Amino acid sequence: MAEMEIGNDHQKTSPTKEDQVYDREKAVKAFDDTKAGVQGLVDDGIAKLPPFFYMSPEDLHDHPTLTDSYLHSDFQVPIIDLNGVLDPNEHKEIVEKMRSASEEWGFFQVINHGIPQHVLKEVLDGVRRFHEQPREVKMKYYSRETDIVRYYTNYDLLQSKGASWRDTLICVMAPDTPPPEKYPFACRDILLEYSKHVKSFGEVIFGLLSEALGLDPDHLKDIGCSEGHTFGCQYYPACPEPDRTLGHVRHHDPDFLTILLQDQIGGLQVLHKHHWIDVPPMEDALIVNIGDLLQLISNDKLKSVEHRVLAKSVGPRISLACLFTTHLQPSKRVYGPLKQLLSPNNPPLYTETSILNYLKSYTSVGGLGNALSLFKL
Ligand code: OGA
Ligand code: NI
Repeated sequence: MAEMEIGNDHQKTSPTKEDQVYDREKAVKAFDDTKAGVQGLVDDGIAKLPPFFYMSPEDLHDHPTLTDSYLHSDFQVPIIDLNGVLDPNEHKEIVEKMRSASEEWGFFQVINHGIPQHVLKEVLDGVRRFHEQPREVKMKYYSRETDIVRYYTNYDLLQSKGASWRDTLICVMAPDTPPPEKYPFACRDILLEYSKHVKSFGEVIFGLLSEALGLDPDHLKDIGCSEGHTFGCQYYPACPEPDRTLGHVRHHDPDFLTILLQDQIGGLQVLHKHHWIDVPPMEDALIVNIGDLLQLISNDKLKSVEHRVLAKSVGPRISLACLFTTHLQPSKRVYGPLKQLLSPNNPPLYTETSILNYLKSYTSVGGLGNALSLFKL
């Protein structure tokens, strides 16, 4: 742990006196105790980041960023238009496009998804309203436990090498939806409304992915992939030193599938062929990415790909990640590679696991780890 106690970029030089007196653990704890998150630091008018947000140049620049990826058609995140999904010919093409996007990128953007534009706008406004309330109001939700509604900054704040510049409101929406009063008043109604839309949309995607795997369209739904979903309502304030940290460190999502709504600021990047590629904001699009559990049950056919969010001097950036999983309301069900996909030439690559067990391993390896590898046969 010792090397984690100072900003990583100091590691190459011998520690200065200032480093030696910097007690990282204490600083992190004091920050956590404010229960005011990253936005609290911004409200306090800081011009420099507390050092525990600094990440090493090696971590910040682990792969080159392809800034002009729009110039290379091979390096554009695929866009899938669902208009025509009811037409048998177009349906086949859409399934094929989704199969290749999920195998090669693990990420795609969907247009003509059917969720009204005003709902998308209003739900991002709702997330903003929550995060922009006085700290006394948000504080009541601040928690590092597994509460079904909670607000915090960096789930791994106390363990990570460098903290990310963002605050999060977690709301478990399904399968067991709590009474509406459990959700913060600032965003309650619109989260509940968006939840219904995104669940139906998620079922459409699971149906198309089932077909892409050569399964019956209801297969993934029937085994519970769309049964539960949790919202991660993210808020990335403008950052005074955006080049020294990230909004969200590189990570895989530990769920079956994520449906992400982002605003127009940008900063999300996906790792593709050893390059960070921007996932450009598109008015009215929803971003879909394959999570670890879908990679596991598809026996590596669909890919859960690393992604990250840059910190920016402009902001706040707001996004809402809908994670399809039941990890906060665990069931005994276990998941392993689907028998229908296995053959002598395609033997199972993973052991079976419950969702909760998977999540425990995921948290134990932290942001940079690849938890899936722990389940390899
Ligand atoms: C996530 C995530 C990206 C974003 O919540 O897992 O990757 O753009 N979010 O906020
Ligand atoms: Ni993610």
